[in-house]
Amino acid sequence: QSQQAAVVEERNRMARDIHDTLAQGFTGVIIQLEAAEDATSCGQQAEADKHLHRAAGLARQSLSEARRSVHALRPDALERDNFWDALKGIIKNTTAGTALHATFELRGKLPEFPRIWQENLLHIGQEALTNTLKYADARNFRARLTCNGKGVRLELRDDGAGFELKDRNDGLGLTGMRERVEQMSGQLEITSERGKGTNIVVTLPLNQESKS
Ligand SMILES: Nc1ncnc2c1ncn2[C@@H]1O[C@H](COP(=O)(O)OP(=O)(O)OP(=O)(O)O)[C@@H](O)[C@H]1O
Ligand SMILES: [Mg+2]
Repeated sequence: QSQQAAVVEERNRMARDIHDTLAQGFTGVIIQLEAAEDATSCGQQAEADKHLHRAAGLARQSLSEARRSVHALRPDALERDNFWDALKGIIKNTTAGTALHATFELRGKLPEFPRIWQENLLHIGQEALTNTLKYADARNFRARLTCNGKGVRLELRDDGAGFELKDRNDGLGLTGMRERVEQMSGQLEITSERGKGTNIVVTLPLNQESKS
């Protein structure tokens, strides 16, 4: 029984990780390829080349991340950076030169996070960005991280189309976000309104257990 549960859980993890590396990676590649097309049709070859170069970089990166998730390894983006810097890097590379303007705000000092939190927060941030790029047609995307003694709060907001929050029609993305937040004993709050954009807030309490 418990062995079966472990198998199901591991399968779930792989599905989430593959979704969060391949699906998100492809979205970034497409965005940059579209930007290259636009630049080419305006005769801006140097600009187009920059986008092509970024697309290739994103493709290479997500291929290596997908390999790592199959082997249950820590995301490569987290080998050098904490999740906040890794997330900033990915968001900048994905949105550079596109119509979506990304801003970042860090309030307080980043505490030492458990490794699994770093992975989860990185993937949650990437999924919020991916959904914004796919559905929101937004002008602005803002990532804000607030840290204090009590815990951390990650806020991901876009000012795009918004959507109706229904209980059970989520794809893998929002479901994965929920599962990741649950795994960290945190809280996930999604608010969205047609025409007013979407806001995703993850709150994680810092207690003795999570500091280990
Ligand atoms: N930022 C957003 N702006 C507008 N609509 C959104 C946004 N985020 C999510 N949605 C809507 O919520 C739905 C569910 O999102 P979710 O990420 O769970 O699935 P998906 O993106 O459709 O598929 P998947 O993530 O599995 O590739 C989306 O199909 C979209 O309609
Ligand atoms: Mg999604």
